[in-house]
Amino acid sequence: MKILVIGKGGREHALVWKLSQSRGVEKIYCAPGNAGIAQIAEIVPIPIDNLAALADFAADKKIDLTVVGPELPLTLGIVDIFEQKGLRIFGPDKAAAEIEGSKAFAKDFMQRYHIPTASSRIFSNHMDALDFVSTVSYPLVIKADGLAAGKGTIIVTSPEEAKASVVNIMVDKVFGQAGERLLVEEFLQGEEVTVMALTDGERVIPMVSAQDHKRIFDSDKGPNTGGMGAYAPTHVISDKMMKRITEEILEPTVSGLAEMGRLYKGVLYTGIIVTDRGPKVLEYNCRFGDPETQAVLPLLETDLVEIFSDIADGYLNIDEIKWKDQSCVCVVLASRGYPETHENGIVIEGLENIKGKDNFVFHAGTTRKDGKIVTNGGRVLGVTTTDHTLKGAIGKVYETIQQITFDGMQYRHDIGMRAVKIDSSYF
Ligand code: AMP
Ligand code: GLY
Repeated sequence: MKILVIGKGGREHALVWKLSQSRGVEKIYCAPGNAGIAQIAEIVPIPIDNLAALADFAADKKIDLTVVGPELPLTLGIVDIFEQKGLRIFGPDKAAAEIEGSKAFAKDFMQRYHIPTASSRIFSNHMDALDFVSTVSYPLVIKADGLAAGKGTIIVTSPEEAKASVVNIMVDKVFGQAGERLLVEEFLQGEEVTVMALTDGERVIPMVSAQDHKRIFDSDKGPNTGGMGAYAPTHVISDKMMKRITEEILEPTVSGLAEMGRLYKGVLYTGIIVTDRGPKVLEYNCRFGDPETQAVLPLLETDLVEIFSDIADGYLNIDEIKWKDQSCVCVVLASRGYPETHENGIVIEGLENIKGKDNFVFHAGTTRKDGKIVTNGGRVLGVTTTDHTLKGAIGKVYETIQQITFDGMQYRHDIGMRAVKIDSSYF
């Protein structure tokens, strides 16, 4: 079997790595990939949004299965284009991917199908939004409607801050078109978890839960990022809570979309806050999470190619998905200045020292220059370790990180630690 993976982050490295272990995989291509992916797959220099070129490539190379990492090609309709050409692809089509592409659509959808979420109001006129935020209690959350590279959500604690955000988003258009509509949302208190589910549009199988660490600095300080680290499974989601999430959130989401004529095939990502009134959806994504996927896939036992092929064919025929009875932690090593800015081209040292079957270094922003692996993005590497306990995995992952260095390298020292009630001085 020949497989094409689309994307270039740590998530895609984890996907390529896991897929490469499947029986019957003859070759994996990755567009556009990174320096780590290049060690196990053939790199194809096609950008993720050049859908026509990707489809031509898949047809030309007789690719048996394409797996899409990021949301952009999905929301642009890559699945529709591939399927029209008779090419097998894992992911939701354009209509189903709108669950991530528009927050307003997702909110309307949740209200219609009684899926628990924060209460909210949608505005398409900035004057109405400004009036509204003068009358409500704080904190609350302001969100640009469209895709804003993870930066379109602002938690505000006063009417002044709220008004400034409304003006930034709707008048000054700092997120461009994404700010044409705006959501004002209730602030939810509780632990935030990620539950990703595999679905063929009818059957829904949740994966082990994960917890991301979105803020740049230790103890959840500083601005939001794409995610600075994750662990899986989480302490927050018991079997009973997972059953509740499946019945109250995942299944009604997939069946609701199907009822609207939007058959969802692929992985459905739900960002959930477990409040004292139960689990509530913060956001949907139409793809695997990053870095969550780097912490989840090392625990997977079932053959991933089999799962993806079944779903691409529209019929998930597997009895159950099996997981290792272990914990996994992924710590992101980021460039100086991330999430605002970053420098590229800085040599990364020590990668060759990483040993041990439980340690993985997933590459995100890396490339090769003059024979050396150099930085090429804000999030550079995802150092990942599995162990029988979460505490053990955390200890090992921070030991592994000591082997790697590049100028400006920054990372959080507390990934997963709140879950085991230890602080970073322990290690
Ligand atoms: P989003 O842009 O929707 O992915 O949100 C980014 C982050 O903001 C989330 O991961 C949460 O940590 C936080 N957040 C978003 N909405 C809410 C909310 N209604 N209540 C509390 N925190 C929120
Ligand atoms: N780590 C959050 C996301 O993938 O959206």
